[in-house]
Amino acid sequence: MSTKNIYILGIESSCDDTSASVICNGKVLSNVVANQEIHAKYGGVVPELASRAHQQNIVPVVQQAIEQAGITKHDLNAIAFTRGPGLMGSLLVGTSFAKSLALGLNIPLIDVNHMQAHILAHFIEEEGSKIPPFPFVCLTISGGHTQIVKITNHFEMEILGETIDDAVGEAFDKSAKILGLPYPGGPLVDKYAQLGNPKAFPFTKPKVGDLEFSFSGLKTAILYFIRKQEKENPDFIKENLYDICASIQYTIIEILMSKLKNAVKHTGIKHIAIAGGVSANSEIRKRLQLAEKHWGWTTYIPKFEYTTDNAAMIAIAGYLKYLNNDYSDISVTAQARLKVTE
Ligand code: KG4
Ligand code: ZN
Repeated sequence: MSTKNIYILGIESSCDDTSASVICNGKVLSNVVANQEIHAKYGGVVPELASRAHQQNIVPVVQQAIEQAGITKHDLNAIAFTRGPGLMGSLLVGTSFAKSLALGLNIPLIDVNHMQAHILAHFIEEEGSKIPPFPFVCLTISGGHTQIVKITNHFEMEILGETIDDAVGEAFDKSAKILGLPYPGGPLVDKYAQLGNPKAFPFTKPKVGDLEFSFSGLKTAILYFIRKQEKENPDFIKENLYDICASIQYTIIEILMSKLKNAVKHTGIKHIAIAGGVSANSEIRKRLQLAEKHWGWTTYIPKFEYTTDNAAMIAIAGYLKYLNNDYSDISVTAQARLKVTE
């Protein structure tokens, strides 16, 4: 008896990464990501430049993903693409391309919600991968979102709490900018934090609801703290970079862990996942592993390559929808704003 191979091409273009991936029956065959270096010198993503770079990258990235998978485009069973949320100009490139390709190949088109896809990356089948059982709770932490989501089945999700202002990735990136680090600063803060003392400079944590987040106050506190210190010592940042990064990261991760603890208390669910770009952070990964030992949680930490934006997560979400015969009409449009529940 032979099982039929289902090949799904995923396309991601919601922000500043152009990515394409082919998966077969839930297993990743290729996952090509073209980062856009152009934004670093502007200290943040410039939407107009992002869509232009997507336009340049999309054809070679898709071609490479298909080639690396060892198939041809005629083997594909469906095209999945990010419908939103994200930057409209960026989303339109992936959406239009996916539509044209699906039409040209006469195969189903499947729209995917980027926030759901970050979570559904946990369902990629791989050696040693741990797939969460339903229901589980996921902390989605990225450059644009910070939310705690209860997942009842692949496509039934409920937001238990979210940020009332900045996303946690923004907190990392804006703090990094204050320290003169290039965009995106999150990975650099992580790197330097590993060499510093996390208790060197205490920052206060925001007072918001049990499952809510707020990071704009922290950013301001860091800015004022640095300004004050620099008045006394113009080389303050240079001399204390590692300790500052460690202290900022410690404060942020403490906030995230305390909210997860609240979520466990509120829901009674101890299957805890993390997703999104900030789940690449070494400290949150370490702390979750400790939570298994100390608090009896079962934790689900995505493989590093499925944390920041990638098309494998779009392809797996597309595959799960494909199995449900959940296809999109060709008139589907990109949505800059889209909740994880939509
Ligand atoms: O999920 P993602 O790639 O894009 C969005 O959908 O927003 O997340 C990007 C965010 C950026 O803010 C980046 O600084 C942050 O993830 N990030 C990190 C790390 N790696 C990426 N933040 C902290 N530590 C890291 N190692
Ligand atoms: Zn993302």
